[in-house]
Amino acid sequence: MKEFWRVSIIGSGYVGLVAGACLAKLGNKVTLVDIDEEKIKTINNGVYPIYEEGLNEILSQVEIEASSDYQRIVGSDMIFLCVGTPPSEGGSVSLEDITEAAKQVADTLKRGNDYCVIAVKSTVPPGTTEEIVIPILERSRKKAGNDFGVCMAPEFLREGKAVYDFMNPMRLIIGELDKRSGDMLLDLYHDFNVPILRTNLRTAEMIKLASNAFLAMKLSFINEIGNICKQLGIDTHEVAKGMAFDERIGGKFLNAGIGFGGSCLPKDIRMLIAGAQETGYAPRLLEEVSKLNEKQALKPVELLKKHISLKGASIGLLGLAFKPGTDDVRESRAIMIVRALLEEGATIKAYDSLAVENFKRLFPQIEYVSKEDVLNCDAILIITEWEEFNNLDYRGKIIIDGRGVLKAKEARIYEGVCW
Ligand code: UDX
Repeated sequence: MKEFWRVSIIGSGYVGLVAGACLAKLGNKVTLVDIDEEKIKTINNGVYPIYEEGLNEILSQVEIEASSDYQRIVGSDMIFLCVGTPPSEGGSVSLEDITEAAKQVADTLKRGNDYCVIAVKSTVPPGTTEEIVIPILERSRKKAGNDFGVCMAPEFLREGKAVYDFMNPMRLIIGELDKRSGDMLLDLYHDFNVPILRTNLRTAEMIKLASNAFLAMKLSFINEIGNICKQLGIDTHEVAKGMAFDERIGGKFLNAGIGFGGSCLPKDIRMLIAGAQETGYAPRLLEEVSKLNEKQALKPVELLKKHISLKGASIGLLGLAFKPGTDDVRESRAIMIVRALLEEGATIKAYDSLAVENFKRLFPQIEYVSKEDVLNCDAILIITEWEEFNNLDYRGKIIIDGRGVLKAKEARIYEGVCW
């Protein structure tokens, strides 16, 4: 076992930055490469482009070299590809960044002579590592499985809890081209005493997508049950509590509401659907999971219309982030809700604990105010269940609750989306 590895991380987004920080904390020598020079500059100045619990603390304790120059990765034992795979037309994802990163790595492979392992961490459609990444890497005139190793090592990090999740994984999935590649990755992960599955590259890619699709399905399932409960005057939260005693079901991911957002679940399920369709298979269940999620986001607006006329009304929004504990607004339910409210002619006042700056970039035309000012609107929608919303005074207000904030039940008019 080596004392430490020289690890290079390509891409300084959530996965790259967190993996880099944590691997450095575990004693490895980490180099972070990103083509975005501004980002590199800010990282080198000790300012990090994302908010993640515990990340700043680790980064202040370790030394990471951040650079936009790919030549810095020559001589690495292990190179992780952590670049983004943003959504593209038709539900699939753009593989442009990973293709470019692989080209750059191929270029550096020409220069170094030592064996190293290139591991894909980006979430990609099954087959990508074998069919796209390896052929590009082999343009270096070096042979995969001979001169260099290849792995696919998905991360299952939750935003807001990414550092914790990296350091305390529930399992390690190692997709490996051959035993030598996988052995090296396993050695890097020797600190973790958790179940490990070693498998082939495309299976590892599928495990990541299937895991996220399953979580998405659980959420759309409980939201569907919730929509039925709402019709019948039943509190879905009680139903979920009762279901959770069955260990086969479990209590996690059963909080009904306005659906799932973020940079992973909605995109990953669409990626899986698009990939299945390309093979000629129609994944009806997954399609419904995704469709139901889109409809669910607009439920609060439908309910609101039962109580007030939206034209000219002032509507307050509590929460803009896609979930509590993050400043991320990607695919946040708030986006669809704001669009719908603006179309109806409402004026909007919004508050969030962390995500205002990010949301402002999408909607500069709405007003951003304190939570107390939000409560002075004609009606209020709760979109993100920030803990602090449990300390507000809702008496006398009209509240439509998308997330189950108990205290809000004291409102004059209170409606939950699924309860
Ligand atoms: C998710 C996966 O959990 C993680 O394993 C994967 O690596 C990346 O995608 P993340 O996007 O950070 O992580 O969010 P997560 O905590 O899973 O929540 C996703 C969405 O589901 C949020 O919008 C959240 O509000 C919603 N959600 C979650 C519910 O509506 N109810 C729940 O019970 C749980």
